[in-house]
Amino acid sequence: MEIKFTINGEERTEQVKPNQRLLDLIRKDLGLVAAKEGCGKGECGACTVIMNGEPVTSCLVLAAQADEAEILTVEGLAEGDNLHPLQEAFIEAGAVQCGFCIPGCIMTAYCLLKENSSPTRNEIRTALAGNICRCTGYQKIIDAVQLAAKNMAAGGEN
Ligand code: FES
Ligand code: FES
Repeated sequence: MEIKFTINGEERTEQVKPNQRLLDLIRKDLGLVAAKEGCGKGECGACTVIMNGEPVTSCLVLAAQADEAEILTVEGLAEGDNLHPLQEAFIEAGAVQCGFCIPGCIMTAYCLLKENSSPTRNEIRTALAGNICRCTGYQKIIDAVQLAAKNMAAGGEN
């Protein structure tokens, strides 16, 4: 079937199979490989992208469900050479180790900061509960989200 959608601001028309996952459409057909496949069953959050403003685990979403949707992946956050404040903050806070979970964490955090521009550490922890990280122990990820919130407020982005 044919679907039309917007991804990272670009309109696309793609042929998809009825059982094709959104994650495979994004990674294999579109070549956007930031979203990762960890568990493949909705438990790790590594495949998180934003669909119509909400974070979704793209391993559990059918590509067909993206018809008429607006999708944002971490590849769509930077503006030219300027990284998004969340991306900058993850680097500055030393929150990236192997990096496998980070695109998913950033997309979840992006949605959190849209709703709550100054989250507490507990609110960040709760928002990121579905994003599993095997490396960092989470503290630096939480530091990064708080730093991004602070920088975005200072830069008038909220
Ligand atoms: S790969 Fe989708 S939640 Fe783990
Ligand atoms: S940085 Fe390695 S899984 Fe999170």
